[in-house]
Amino acid sequence: MDEKRVIFVDDDVISLKSLRRMLTKMPKSWEFEFADSGEKALDILSQDHFDVIVADMRMPKMDGAQLLTQVQKKYPGIVRIILSGHSNREMIISSIGPCHQFLAKPCQSDVLINTIKRACALRELLGDERLQSSLAKLEGIPSVPHIYVELNTEINSPSGSLKKISQIIAKDMGMSAKILQLVNSAFFGLPRHVSNVEQAVSLLGMEVINALVLSSKVFSLFETPKLPNFSIDALSKHNFVVGNFAKAISQEEKCEKKVSEQAFLAGLMHDIGKLIFCTIYGKRYGDAITSAEQEKVEITVAENDYFKSSHAGIGAYLLGLWGLPDPVVEAIAFHHNPGEFPAEEFGPLAAVHAADVIYHELHPNATNMKKLKFDEMFFKKLDVMDKADTWRALCQDIVFCGDENE
Ligand SMILES: [Fe+2]
Ligand SMILES: [Fe+2]
Repeated sequence: MDEKRVIFVDDDVISLKSLRRMLTKMPKSWEFEFADSGEKALDILSQDHFDVIVADMRMPKMDGAQLLTQVQKKYPGIVRIILSGHSNREMIISSIGPCHQFLAKPCQSDVLINTIKRACALRELLGDERLQSSLAKLEGIPSVPHIYVELNTEINSPSGSLKKISQIIAKDMGMSAKILQLVNSAFFGLPRHVSNVEQAVSLLGMEVINALVLSSKVFSLFETPKLPNFSIDALSKHNFVVGNFAKAISQEEKCEKKVSEQAFLAGLMHDIGKLIFCTIYGKRYGDAITSAEQEKVEITVAENDYFKSSHAGIGAYLLGLWGLPDPVVEAIAFHHNPGEFPAEEFGPLAAVHAADVIYHELHPNATNMKKLKFDEMFFKKLDVMDKADTWRALCQDIVFCGDENE
């Protein structure tokens, strides 16, 4: 399935012309359509299948956010990208739900082409097309209820501080993911990917955070049916601890600061796919967990049986679509089978895999299913297999100091 179909929508004919020129570098098998209004785009979409839509934000009658909202409803499987030269914060916030990625005009051709290619490649992580559609409809990832309440209280408090707000957001995988999606959008003109939640919050400022909390769809409470064998609190604590372990392990391995930040973030979100499965499938996800417990297999085996995808795959897919940094997305995608990723050096993937395994060694009762083990071949290749005991001691210290509960 190398062939992809992309539709571009812009009311400015000159912009469409320059897009056509840029696209001469794309593979021959890719097909492009161009529309000069939202209405025309919807008409074209009703006649043919498309993989990606790239729309200008400011257009007369129907703007980019309105168009993408309709596309999201009618054709949820299409990847939605905004390409725009002039946008205010209000516009960005109105499109953060229906839009997967934002690119600023003028956009260099390789940035545009890579964004489209990467979005399409990510979809290959998913086996089931229906799952693609369900995921494409998801605008936000639900938050842990008590963290959500804590954030609201801090925002409404006269003494509320950005620092405290960023600490609260950093504990919640759903909110962190959304904040990073926004800050990494090209609108903020940042030259490199931001992986640090605190930095992201201070870049966005109180006004934007407030708007995100008010727009109920972006930050929302976890309200899926209660399952006897799934707890968002336990999952969220596990993710947070694995994030801290991964950061400590990457620091021990003398990784650069940026890599340690990515290791923390990847740890914080590594099992986010479980929350997504639970949000989409409810009780059926509970059945998959029960089956993994009874059969004594890893959860990913049961997930693949039930949904033709694993939590690692869908988590990576969604966060990749939202534009999170590649090393974070790769660490999430391969944390159960790191050997399948061609890693050359110690990075977020190795740190998260090690952290996840050590977490389960230190908390033997956390699950009844088959536990993850060190991928020894992978660590031998990176020449760090002899470091496992040092990492274990490091993580044990974190647990004893109580830092894992912060
Ligand atoms: Fe996992
Ligand atoms: Fe995990």
